Amino acid sequence: MTPLNTPEWQSLDRHYTDLKYVSMRDEFALDSGRFERFSLNSGELLLDYSKNRITKETIEKLIALAKSLGLSDWIERMYTGESINTTEGRAVSHIALRNRSNRPIKVDGKDVMPAVNAVLAQMKQFCDQVHQGKWLGYTDKRISDVVNIGIGGSDLGPAMICEALEPYAIAGMNVHFVSNVDGTDLSTTLEKLSPETTLFIVASKTFTTQETLTNAQSARAWFLRAGGVEDIAKHFVAVSTNADAVAKFGINTDNMFEIWDWVGGRYSLWSAIGLPIALYVGMESFERLLDGGHEMDNHFRKQPFENNMPVIMGLLGVWYVNFFGSQTHAIVPYDHSLTRFPSHMQQLDMESNGKLTNRQGQRISYSTGPVIWGTPGTNGQHAYFQLIHQGTQLIPVDFVLPVNSHYPECDHQSILLANGLAQSEALMKGKSAEEVRTELVNEGYEGEALEALQPHKIFPGNRPSNTLIFPKLTPEMLGQLVALYEHKVFVQGAIWNINSFDQWGVELGKQLAKAIVPELQKDADISGHDSSTTSLINLIRQLTKR
Ligand code: F6P
Repeated sequence: MTPLNTPEWQSLDRHYTDLKYVSMRDEFALDSGRFERFSLNSGELLLDYSKNRITKETIEKLIALAKSLGLSDWIERMYTGESINTTEGRAVSHIALRNRSNRPIKVDGKDVMPAVNAVLAQMKQFCDQVHQGKWLGYTDKRISDVVNIGIGGSDLGPAMICEALEPYAIAGMNVHFVSNVDGTDLSTTLEKLSPETTLFIVASKTFTTQETLTNAQSARAWFLRAGGVEDIAKHFVAVSTNADAVAKFGINTDNMFEIWDWVGGRYSLWSAIGLPIALYVGMESFERLLDGGHEMDNHFRKQPFENNMPVIMGLLGVWYVNFFGSQTHAIVPYDHSLTRFPSHMQQLDMESNGKLTNRQGQRISYSTGPVIWGTPGTNGQHAYFQLIHQGTQLIPVDFVLPVNSHYPECDHQSILLANGLAQSEALMKGKSAEEVRTELVNEGYEGEALEALQPHKIFPGNRPSNTLIFPKLTPEMLGQLVALYEHKVFVQGAIWNINSFDQWGVELGKQLAKAIVPELQKDADISGHDSSTTSLINLIRQLTKR
């Protein structure tokens, strides 16, 4: 079953041929209502998608494609707890984690809400104890530093949220994230901390991840250089599905916060994987984050496709990937506190939709997930925006703009926002040969000098972008934003007929690394890999100073 064979896809193909030379600049000039036509809201979040290579017909055709491929059914299957992650035999129910209505959501015939609520209550009780100084370290000092040890979904999401919600931090609480198995990460974090006042969260859904367990063992050893084994319970808690492995590691399962296999790692920040968030900003702010996610969940389930933000963003992505041949998509937040937002989105999107096999197990012949990347504006403007404006590739951009800053500094915010708006305007409008010529003449250029410089200063324009704009980055707004992108990824997976919820592509490297570790530690030369890998292993062995 391939979307390429549907009449709707073929109609989009023909429409692309008609539209590919249409200029957005002309379309704006012809239609003063273009912004109203191509913008929509979810609560206080506004998506302006008018600066895209689209007409009314494009959206109609994209929506027809989504309908023909059963997107509504897929949404319902997720919302009703069906096992749509077929290769792992699991439901995809992260929406239950932020189901603030508390309506029953059944997974394998059982309502999961009582278990979700019980863990939220456990988190609240634990956070209250820490914040009120009732949970003390082994020398009766208050906990001041939380170190989350996890990787991938057990790190990126919570780390991004903590950084973004720093203005909401509880006084006296610091949070640190250790993910990389490179000892530098753990050592440089711990050198600033005292074991007496540090709490470790070992966050691993599976509790088998090599990097996390290695870091956790070293953190335990660091702690035991000061405290005793009997003190570990006060300084180590775990978040996992795997109680046996947690107990085996030496963490009392009374200090374990449960998650479930129906929560994908990259969708887990809303679960107890969010414990570092709750400890850092308080349970109330964590719940506000869940509220925002829930608001977007309702929007996604209830809004007709033409008013549905994740659906529109997902379909626009398909339009560029499959018809314009775009291979990457930039996410550029004009908010320094969202520095880690693109990295979280990278895992969310690329681990979900980086697939070449369809749901029926066949190799697919069309492009799926693009490379997701980005850094905060305005920094990106002075680094890679050159290529987005004048390079040979078409790179759609999402501009994420909070209107008000938590740190208002005279005119910083106006300058920041003006830059974000200017980039999207410049990408859309470009600068024609005639405009460049006039500009150069006004600057006094003529003759050969003018002719030589003119081509370099032309901007082709017609480069697409979305703008997401909102009053301020509150916990609710951040929850909406993250859930928006989660559902956008879902929409695209449905169109591409792939399972967005497994990640087999990360397994091979893990397997091979396990075999290479003992080889690096051997005294004698090893053999058996390809000549490149064998030689590199032997070189490393020789260069390693034991
Ligand atoms: O290697 C990929 C992955 O499985 C991610 O999907 C996941 O978020 C990460 O590793 C961490 O896994 P865990 O929480 O089980 O340690």
